[in-house]
Amino acid sequence: MVKKKKVSTCVFISGNGTNLKKIFKNSKNKNFPIKIDLVISNNAKAKGIIFAKKNNIKVKCIKYINQKSFEKNSLILLKKNNIKLICLAGFMKILSSKFITQFKYKILNIHPSLLPKYKGLNTHMRVIKNKEKFSGCTVHFVNKKLDSGKIILQKKIKIQKKDTHKSLNKKILKLEYIAYSLAIKRIFKN
Ligand code: GRF
Repeated sequence: MVKKKKVSTCVFISGNGTNLKKIFKNSKNKNFPIKIDLVISNNAKAKGIIFAKKNNIKVKCIKYINQKSFEKNSLILLKKNNIKLICLAGFMKILSSKFITQFKYKILNIHPSLLPKYKGLNTHMRVIKNKEKFSGCTVHFVNKKLDSGKIILQKKIKIQKKDTHKSLNKKILKLEYIAYSLAIKRIFKN
């Protein structure tokens, strides 16, 4: 049987990079469809950079002077490394339509809410304030509108009375770790 080649992937981060960690760990499994060949961070202080370096993943920090220059420099690196899939994982910047069009259905994002509810920032705080019964996370394709692309999968939890935005953040991060890798497997399943 011919072995399938793993899809060359770049993960974009801005902070802790714990989703990156999980995806990387899973990517070591021989049946996982992707491999992480590059990490791009817009933040030189992102903890995820340390993890990438320790694990010999090529990592580049691109200073975010403005969207245009960030994307131009990213594109050069993506092409140079023959990247076919981009995973946004705790990446806190918005990508332009022009950039997204060049990777149509090739950019994934994880968002800590049950989209289409609670797009944007501070989701857990708003969820608690609104006394929602459930929350969760969503992995979706990135399109031109913020947090609005086609949903690949969602994971849901019941919110307990004693939950705060902090406890919810902890619980949902754990769900994210499962959801992101499952979504990656799902899009490459045939
Ligand atoms: C996650 O909750 C992700 O959904 C959100 O930012 C957080 C970052 O987590 N966009 P990490 O950087 O992967 O640890």
